[in-house]
Amino acid sequence: MAGGAGMSDSSDKSAEVEVIKSRKLEGLTIPLKQDVQARNISTYLEHVMLVHNALPELDIDEVDTSTTFLGHGFSAPIIIDSMTGGTDEATVINERLAQVAEELNLGMGVGSQRAGLLSDSLRESYSIARKSAPNAFLIANIGGVQLRSITLDDVRRIIEMIDADAIAVHLNPLQELIQPEGEPRFKGIYSKIVELVRSVDIPVIVKEVGSGISRDVAVRLELAGVKAINVAGSGGTSWAGVEKLRADNSKAPMKSRLGELLWDWGIPTAMSLLEVRRSVRVSIVASGGLRNGMDVAKCIALGADMCALAWPFLKCAAESKEAVLDYARALIEELRAVMFLVGARDVRALKRARYHLQGPLLEWFRTYGGV
Ligand SMILES: Cc1cc2nc3c(=O)[nH]c(=O)nc-3n(C[C@H](O)[C@H](O)[C@H](O)COP(=O)(O)O)c2cc1C
Repeated sequence: MAGGAGMSDSSDKSAEVEVIKSRKLEGLTIPLKQDVQARNISTYLEHVMLVHNALPELDIDEVDTSTTFLGHGFSAPIIIDSMTGGTDEATVINERLAQVAEELNLGMGVGSQRAGLLSDSLRESYSIARKSAPNAFLIANIGGVQLRSITLDDVRRIIEMIDADAIAVHLNPLQELIQPEGEPRFKGIYSKIVELVRSVDIPVIVKEVGSGISRDVAVRLELAGVKAINVAGSGGTSWAGVEKLRADNSKAPMKSRLGELLWDWGIPTAMSLLEVRRSVRVSIVASGGLRNGMDVAKCIALGADMCALAWPFLKCAAESKEAVLDYARALIEELRAVMFLVGARDVRALKRARYHLQGPLLEWFRTYGGV
């Protein structure tokens, strides 16, 4: 982390707070109101076929979806992925998400917390998560790029803000590239991650935001000592898409052009997951375009320890806490149904379930999948 005193004087700070607030609001309203999902790329999970078991030797109510991850027990291998904070609207969203994480014992990440460092009033939009979920596994969040300018003290404040069980560092070079005020400068971030891992006493997770993690990056992250990797591959929410629409609004034609070109850039989630699982031993979270319990089951069979979903939870949270609860319950029931159909009594058995790869995923796997 930076060794310096940290933030600027108060007038600069309040201007910065206003800019961040409006950016965070756009980061919520664009994915909610406009279509920023992948266009011509998918997760490739449709190319994974779990093998049906006609004689599962199980009753459906024996199927146990519970699991452990980073030393914590969960009712199902499901995390509400890192999304929001830093604007008043986010307080309501985080409250609803956290209430459901608590009620169902799922994990939850908050959005990038730099805004919470800048202002007490914005801190509430994150800390509401811990208030609403005293026992749930909560994940703090900061951008890799931000590690260059914040101090270790700031990191501690971020962790304390939600009394976090783990901290996620997001790597988002594509988003930084298209974002009108982005900072596509990643030099030196690896050593900042190494420093972070050595300095905090909770597990560090490194995640993408929708472009996937390759095996080389995974190996370097494992060497850095991170405890888990969230692959967040392509096929779901496109951050090039979100930032392209923001660039249109702020009349930044070159950024908009880049966003259009790179809308579907990235490694499909299933590919990234297979590649990372075969390269490292750290825990893996699958994310990026997962939408139902069958996607979750497939990812666990491919080697994920947990699965995270962002956009579908946001859509529900914008409606009501009940909508989040209904969706999360449906995910768990769908997962249970698929576990029954492959004859997996528990998550450990699901990890060993047989699957076939098909189409482009199989083609890729035959050439590169063995690592
Ligand atoms: C509205 C929204 C805000 C997000 N903000 C963050 C963030 O602050 N930090 C982060 O690590 N990821 C963030 N993400 C990325 C998600 O955690 C996730 O990796 C990505 O959206 C892919 O999952 P999905 O296809 O289920 O949305 C955000 C996603 C959404 C939809």
